[in-house]
Amino acid sequence: MPLDHYRLLGRSGLRVSPLALGTMTFGETWGAEEVESRRIFDAYVDRGGNFVDTAGYYAKGRSEELTGKFAAGKRDGVVLSTKYSLAVEPGDPNAGGNSRRSMVRAVEDSLRRLRTDRIDLLFLHVWDDMVPADEILRGFDDLVRQGKILYIGISDTPAWRIAWLQVMAELRGWTQFAALQVEYSLLQRTGERDLIPAARALGIGVMPWSPLGNGLLSGKYATGALQPDDPEGGRAQMMTAIGRVNPATVAIADAVKDVADAIGASSAQVALAWTLANPAVVAPLVGARTLRQFVDNIGALDLRLDGEHLAALDEASRIDLGFPHDFLKFPFIRDALTAGTTVVPRG
Ligand SMILES: NC(=O)c1ccc[n+]([C@@H]2O[C@H](COP(=O)([O-])OP(=O)(O)OC[C@H]3O[C@@H](n4cnc5c(N)ncnc54)[C@H](OP(=O)(O)O)[C@@H]3O)[C@@H](O)[C@H]2O)c1
Repeated sequence: MPLDHYRLLGRSGLRVSPLALGTMTFGETWGAEEVESRRIFDAYVDRGGNFVDTAGYYAKGRSEELTGKFAAGKRDGVVLSTKYSLAVEPGDPNAGGNSRRSMVRAVEDSLRRLRTDRIDLLFLHVWDDMVPADEILRGFDDLVRQGKILYIGISDTPAWRIAWLQVMAELRGWTQFAALQVEYSLLQRTGERDLIPAARALGIGVMPWSPLGNGLLSGKYATGALQPDDPEGGRAQMMTAIGRVNPATVAIADAVKDVADAIGASSAQVALAWTLANPAVVAPLVGARTLRQFVDNIGALDLRLDGEHLAALDEASRIDLGFPHDFLKFPFIRDALTAGTTVVPRG
């Protein structure tokens, strides 16, 4: 599955690569400086990659600036995705949040930083629980009608809110969400309860973020130590300091490494390939601090995990789905729902 075998994003007609390039590392203090960021960007586009994700929030706008600079001259071949909602400076209450005011201002800032006259895909970045649904949806729709944005997405929002917004947009004839960004990896599977099934049912393509759990699944923590060729650590030291590296997470990283060793792949490739095995997933967001990491990660596209390896990874990382999902699977409930007959569910 090469980067130039494109997929449709949700129920939209937009064609995107099966791995999106995440640029949160670009210009960030724990990320990549300009020269390395450009190498990563060029390597992605040169291999046929067309789906680049940034946000006004990343590195206080620097990620968008670098992305705009690198995309200059290649703009037509790139689907540019960015996000609004998070303020980069404190002080102005309208510089953050989900309101129309925040949306319009963020779009103008993003267009300037990205050196473009349209954003291909604009995400609501983080739900603030303070703005009416119609203000958000009509704000998006007006920007689409003005040609400033083409498609819309949503991220970091409860599933029931997303369903409500999507149905309202459909009934009112407004632009509907084409994409959902959700933290999803072998370390974070709670999206399987409601977010991912909701997206699938609503025609929204899933884009897992932090598919390596901030690098925890790359193999460098599997033995409890950082990789020797990564002395400066990047995000690694931060993850250790905040307790994200613990026996439970390292046990999952160990299971990933076991599968990787068995099939001659890297841990990062196995972890990414696992997200791609979910039929709701259109494009995981690949994060990399170095070109070497990026090249390793896109190797995931050549990997097909078999049933035995998927089962081992599932066993190591499975979560309790909780109510009502567990209740709905009780045999006596299933029997009562089908009156004891055999009813084959839709595929
Ligand atoms: N919507 C949202 O709220 C949201 C939130 C977060 C991210 N995102 C998007 O998702 C993208 C990816 O997220 P992420 O950066 O957190 O992804 P990730 O893949 O979980 O983490 C990336 C980090 O893991 C380490 N790494 C990556 N590949 C590696 C390899 N092959 N070997 C060793 N270490 C490796 C690097 O960190 P070190 O080398 O520094 O350890 C790298 O910066 C972002 O760029 C952004 O576009 C969206």
